[in-house]
Amino acid sequence: MKKTINPLWGGRFEKENSNLLKDFNNSISFDYQLGLQDVKVNKVYCEALKKAKILSEKDFKKIKNVLDEIQKDIKKNDFKFDGSFEDIHMNIEMAVKKKIGNVAGKMHTGKSRNDQVATDLKLWIRENSNEIISRIKLIQKSLLKKAEQNIETILPGLTHFQNAQPISLAHYFLSFFEMFSRDKSRFENLIKNTNECPLGSGALAGTNFFEIDRKFIAKRLGFAKPTENSLDSVSDRDFAIEFLSSLSILSMHFSRIAEDFIIWSNVCFNFLSFSDSLSTGSSIMPQKKNPDAAELVRAKTGSIYASLFNLLIILKGLPSGYSKDLQEDKVPIFNSFNSVKTIMEVVNEMISSIVVVKEKMYEASMKGFITATDLADWMVKNIGINFREAHFKTGRIVLLAEKNKLNLHEMPLRLMQSIEPKLTERVFDILTPENSVLQKKSYGGTAFTEIRKAISRAKKKI
Ligand code: ARG
Repeated sequence: MKKTINPLWGGRFEKENSNLLKDFNNSISFDYQLGLQDVKVNKVYCEALKKAKILSEKDFKKIKNVLDEIQKDIKKNDFKFDGSFEDIHMNIEMAVKKKIGNVAGKMHTGKSRNDQVATDLKLWIRENSNEIISRIKLIQKSLLKKAEQNIETILPGLTHFQNAQPISLAHYFLSFFEMFSRDKSRFENLIKNTNECPLGSGALAGTNFFEIDRKFIAKRLGFAKPTENSLDSVSDRDFAIEFLSSLSILSMHFSRIAEDFIIWSNVCFNFLSFSDSLSTGSSIMPQKKNPDAAELVRAKTGSIYASLFNLLIILKGLPSGYSKDLQEDKVPIFNSFNSVKTIMEVVNEMISSIVVVKEKMYEASMKGFITATDLADWMVKNIGINFREAHFKTGRIVLLAEKNKLNLHEMPLRLMQSIEPKLTERVFDILTPENSVLQKKSYGGTAFTEIRKAISRAKKKI
């Protein structure tokens, strides 16, 4: 037989592809990252072919042994991915062929690269979602450690970026612990929901070799069941969009903690300082210590969102069935996963290494009439007026304090009594930031007692 142009699909071609198309079509430069998944899929598929008596025991053993070797080589980074073979599937099949010759030609019976790549990618996303989950846990542990060290560190809590009510710094760290708990569940749910195996769907219509046991394949690959519809199976990338969307939400949380830290490190705040190991200097201004690591965490989040949109846009116009556009799904997936992995290492180090300046936080928590709500609540409880009236009167007191350039706790009682005569000396007890925090005893509130309980609940979650 005449030597074909492409070993996988060259039969109906008379001329070679142009070098331009070869380069353009080539995906091995990125889909080599599916190497281990592709080998696993091939192994299980060959087991199914053996079960269906399409592969003899002898041929199966030959193929399996080579696949085992390839697996070892990939793990050791010893496998030579060959750029002249367009993708990972062709690379693996050709590597088997190189060792055992034409028997390798039996591996692809009833299989298509369309159902194969969908299966490889699902496996990859399941495995790497687990990787993200374990990294999230590390960050949560660092947050808990910081929370435990700062239960009684008070800082101004903000709304609209204005001083609102004082909170414990541990409360702040625990708020991120919660965000990351939700992220963790998103990845856990993604793994749980990505539980149907596309392999055995063929190119789009199913396979003629109905003896190929799809339930067996699904189980052996760790899925709960085979997919229901072969046409859907070959072009479903919902799971990949969910992966990128979960990565986007996770990165958004990283970006927000980075933003807080950047603001807090500014000299006007001086709430914290970054470790030298995560800061850089300026080539002209000798005094500068810039929070580059945190800034890059914030910026790189943009490219993670872009990856999500990249994939959504690839998919929006696709006709039913597989189209080559789907080869490009891997670029945003691999890029953002690799970027998020690095971001996570940086964030973990950033959280562990920041130095908190407790006095500055406390000083700031006295500013901005931050205990005004406590004063209004005191009036409701002790004078018996309704909250709206108490809110108005407290507003008047704030106005007076502002005019006199005083903080609430510095206001003479007489002056406050000009607005509400029933106010007594006792009111000064509640105007301090500590007292305000201590009163917030509602479930999930910032009172130190609640924080201690929240920390022990959080510990049980990781
Ligand atoms: N490399 C391709 C991809 O990643 C594999 C599937 C190719 N299928 C095809 N019929 N050309 O999507």
